[in-house]
Amino acid sequence: MGERRYTEQEEALEIKSLRRIIAAYANYQDAAERDVKRYERSFKMLPPAHKELLFHLGLKYQRLRWCISMNAAFIMNMLEDEEDYIAGCSHPVDNNLGTSQGIGVSCNSDKDAITTIYSEDKDRTASSSVENVTPHHCPSSLFKLNVPPIDVDKVRCIVRNIVRDWAEEGQKERDECYKPILEELNRLFPSRNKQRPPSCLVPGAGLGRLALEISSLGFVSQGNEFSYYMLICSSFILNHTQEANEWTIYPWIHSNCNSLSDSDQLRAVKFPDIHPSSAGITEGFSMCAGDFVEVYSEESQDSAWDAVVTCFFLDTAHNIVEYIEIISKVLKDGGVWINLGPLLYHFADSYGPDDDMSIELSLEDVKKVAYHYGFVMEVENMIETTYTANMRSMMQNRYHAVFWTMRKNTSHSKVQKRQ
Ligand SMILES: C[S@@+](CC[C@H](N)C(=O)[O-])C[C@H]1O[C@@H](n2cnc3c(N)ncnc32)[C@H](O)[C@@H]1O
Repeated sequence: MGERRYTEQEEALEIKSLRRIIAAYANYQDAAERDVKRYERSFKMLPPAHKELLFHLGLKYQRLRWCISMNAAFIMNMLEDEEDYIAGCSHPVDNNLGTSQGIGVSCNSDKDAITTIYSEDKDRTASSSVENVTPHHCPSSLFKLNVPPIDVDKVRCIVRNIVRDWAEEGQKERDECYKPILEELNRLFPSRNKQRPPSCLVPGAGLGRLALEISSLGFVSQGNEFSYYMLICSSFILNHTQEANEWTIYPWIHSNCNSLSDSDQLRAVKFPDIHPSSAGITEGFSMCAGDFVEVYSEESQDSAWDAVVTCFFLDTAHNIVEYIEIISKVLKDGGVWINLGPLLYHFADSYGPDDDMSIELSLEDVKKVAYHYGFVMEVENMIETTYTANMRSMMQNRYHAVFWTMRKNTSHSKVQKRQ
């Protein structure tokens, strides 16, 4: 198969997208400082008696600033250590995530299937405010830009994802989401051969914890992820962690709502709860950067995997039918698809000028589509869980998420029969 060639325009788009993301990370502190200034302005508007009553808030704002600076210090460390990775990202032919700490976190699938790194579609629409970013990827050249609020939000979202995947505080969520998947994999592949371990693909791998756990369970595991926000952070945690609980962040400082106390809001969270390099990973563990549809539509991926695990991923599709079709295609006959998540279609509310495509199916229809592509349901139930929730908040969004195991049985596929 010929190597996929990328046009100059595609490469330029990639570089622009990456710069926008680095700018968002690099301007984290500024954006957060603007919030604190806003709190202070409101405080100043109080009548003197109220100010006196809430005198302690002045100190809280100073503490907030300190927490922000600690978060920013972590982000700067990450950007500095990930410079090689970031440089690789801007050259689509070389997307090795680095192996500095002994974990081979690189994309080891077919070369032409992985040569381009895509970020979320929305990430790629650089706003005019960041268009003047200099060509150099060095974070210092990206300071003091007026980062769009949506990008500021994405950085804060990554901070919450760190808790979900890599902090002790995220253990409850991981037990709800990742544990049933790991138990199911363990049940379905009871005698894993160390010489020829089964393979498992994890599309939409986020910060990589589930893919790592699957690797530690004895699978050749590959996480696939297309957001640079996620990739830069997961690469840093996986490759550059020296010891457990090396880093401290303050993930909950960005919202004053629903806190039981200021100390809850300002609490420190240490991570990673484990040292990834010491997690007993199986050789061949990799993170593949790229759009799931682009990368795994490649012929080289046909019938390549024993298992596919999707966790909070299916509803990220523009076209969920296409996702299911590809999952079926990449699985070997008899391979299993384990899925957990809601159907909160990511593009359901997009009202941008691009008028993004968004196919929003009920669970019933999703299953119909899966059966069409040769899947047979083996296990199905519902799981109550949260996603990046602040466990100490007065507001907890809970999902009644579907969990299933389906097996690919080519003889059941309507697609095959018609051919
Ligand atoms: C809701 S998050 C779930 C992350 C992780 N599986 C978890 O449970 O924490 C969905 C992830 O899928 C990624 N994603 C969305 N569309 C993708 C695509 N087409 N290809 C690869 N990754 C994608 C997003 O960047 C995001 O990290």
